[in-house]
Amino acid sequence: IEQLKVCLVGSGNWGSAVAKIIGNNVTRLEGFSRDVTMYVYEEIVDGEKLSEVINSRHENVKYLPGIKLPTNVRAEPDLVSSASNADILVFVVPHQFVPGICAKLKGSIKPGAVGVSLIKGLDANVGGKLELVSETIASSLQIPMSVLMGANIATEVAQECHCEATLGCKNSAQGSMLKRIFSTDYFKIEVVDDLEAVEMCGALKNVVACAAGFADGMDLGSNTKAAIIRIGLVEMMSIIKSLFPDSKKKTYFQSCGVADLITTCFGGRNRRISEAFVRTGKSLAVLEAEMLNGQKLQGPATAQLIYKILEKEAFKIEVPLFVKVYQICFEGISPRSLLEIFSIVSNL
Ligand code: NAD
Ligand code: 13P
Repeated sequence: IEQLKVCLVGSGNWGSAVAKIIGNNVTRLEGFSRDVTMYVYEEIVDGEKLSEVINSRHENVKYLPGIKLPTNVRAEPDLVSSASNADILVFVVPHQFVPGICAKLKGSIKPGAVGVSLIKGLDANVGGKLELVSETIASSLQIPMSVLMGANIATEVAQECHCEATLGCKNSAQGSMLKRIFSTDYFKIEVVDDLEAVEMCGALKNVVACAAGFADGMDLGSNTKAAIIRIGLVEMMSIIKSLFPDSKKKTYFQSCGVADLITTCFGGRNRRISEAFVRTGKSLAVLEAEMLNGQKLQGPATAQLIYKILEKEAFKIEVPLFVKVYQICFEGISPRSLLEIFSIVSNL
């Protein structure tokens, strides 16, 4: 019987937490190869190659310190060799690296392979139209893609705190197969077919998290943050509905919707850096480098992409919070101006 082989394309904070889950799952599940490869963007950490450190100590000392990885997860710095014989490709890199990774992998994927994207970000195609990261990967590598999004702060998942996630998948057989490699007793997966809305929720909540962080930086308290979360959700729903009219309202009540929005607005990196942006006056890029030790922010770039797309359509829909986050991040307007959104009633 064929044993399906999994490759993780990515080994950052979330990539490493997911490597722990998949590495453990394939050893107990039938039909999967025990050997899991994890593509590592090579770098030197304390004088040693990160891939070698991971393979000898079974810990990603830079991106997920303190968590042991299963010994059957092998770090591989060569992208093509890590992925070329895989049946299941799990994409989990910051979205800005997706085009480069796809260009390198093109033509080297095993026939019949399937992919799943855990990437919370968006892309634009050559015409400047919005493209989901899953679509970019599917069209470049010619593989069917699913997505996994949810309220999943990586370190908490790695510590096995209970959480949920949403698998967006158009093909039910693939959905059940993918659900098996991700599910554990502490990581509960719900499969839905509203893939586009699932992925859009994962990307857009990072923009709302920036607004939540700005509010925290101004010491505005819990009620204001709750208002930001509410308005952010309303705007996320308007954006998603306008771009994907067939998307379903019930998707927002999955982990990928309201739950991820809440956790990111309290515990995420976008929130943390945005708070520091207000308190220190340093640029987002400087704070990302100073505070995240190589991890990447997704919110500001997503705010910029959405702003450009809405601008092209002459702002057919009103999304003041998304506009303010873009202007605060990229046009130098004061974070205080975020408060102006409260004079506009945001309802569905
Ligand atoms: P991360 O923020 O830890 O990113 C750093 C990773 O990028 C490292 O593995 C680094 O080696 C790699 N990298 C740096 N330069 C590169 C290059 N030029 N080419 C390729 N790779 C390069 O990554 P992460 O937290 O694993 O996030 C990946 C995706 O998962 C993101 O879209 C994120 O939104 C999403 N996500 C993250 C979390 C979380 O809590 N961290 C949770 C859910 C989803
Ligand atoms: P941050 O990227 O803001 O840390 O969000 C992590 C996340 O997606 C939690 O689900």
